[in-house]
Amino acid sequence: MRDVNQFTVTEAVKSSFDTEDGSRFQFLLETFIEHLHDYVREVNLTHDEWMRMLNFLYDCGQISTPERHEYILLSDVLGLSALVDMINTRGGATEGSNLGPFYLDDAPVKELGADLAEGREGVSVLVEGVIRDTLGNPLPGATIDTWQADSSGTYPIQEQEQGQDKYDLRAKITADEQGRYYYTTVLPKPYTVPYDGPVGELLRAGNRHAWRAAHLHYIVRHPGMRSITTEVFFENAEYLDNDAVFGVRKSLIAKLEPVKKASAIDLPLERRPDAKVHFDFTLAPEG
Ligand code: BEZ
Ligand code: FE
Repeated sequence: MRDVNQFTVTEAVKSSFDTEDGSRFQFLLETFIEHLHDYVREVNLTHDEWMRMLNFLYDCGQISTPERHEYILLSDVLGLSALVDMINTRGGATEGSNLGPFYLDDAPVKELGADLAEGREGVSVLVEGVIRDTLGNPLPGATIDTWQADSSGTYPIQEQEQGQDKYDLRAKITADEQGRYYYTTVLPKPYTVPYDGPVGELLRAGNRHAWRAAHLHYIVRHPGMRSITTEVFFENAEYLDNDAVFGVRKSLIAKLEPVKKASAIDLPLERRPDAKVHFDFTLAPEG
């Protein structure tokens, strides 16, 4: 390996690993090394630039905690998370979108028709729809696991020190025999991704803002079906065309309509909504 040079070093590094031939790990590692080396050759990376990049990664590690994963945020603002979501969306199924950092896997189980707002200020909105398979059959017993920001763009989990309950504005709800789900909640507002760390610096360096279009988060599940992690956005809302984490897809934008007469809604609801949003989910079979 003594006569290694800037062109042969890539093969030398690849063959220094003794990985299982034909394995996925070998493929991922070797392809990564090739792309990384090609990048460095293409841009003629200087020592200063190389060190700045490494220090940036170091800073991302320094600011990270179990609650704040700066590398996920980096992946989000670089569109990497969106790309992984896109290439893993199954044909015919609802498109995937960001999980984000605020998911809790032990959200309270609530009944169909429940009000998640629990007295919070803001526009009361009915969210309803049907969960189906890719052949159009309803999926009774499918569950939605939902979480969201409030009407000022804050997740209750972010304000626990101010007395908020981290389990507020989230729920697991099971669809009825017709695959229908429905509940009321408060209309969420846009908010910024955390920009007080190295990723924020990157956004500022690139003249980018940190705003996300207002959204509702979902994980939709049914036994035997591939679960989906996604988000629902609202037509004509701010930041649909420049969401900081590239989470918006045309197919995930729902219409927000006023509810003029309570009698127009034929669902047993805990609270009378001011507006409604209809969104159907489609799950593809597992495998
Ligand atoms: C969110 O949607 O909750 C989120 C996504 C990426 C970064 C920060 C928050
Ligand atoms: Fe979010």
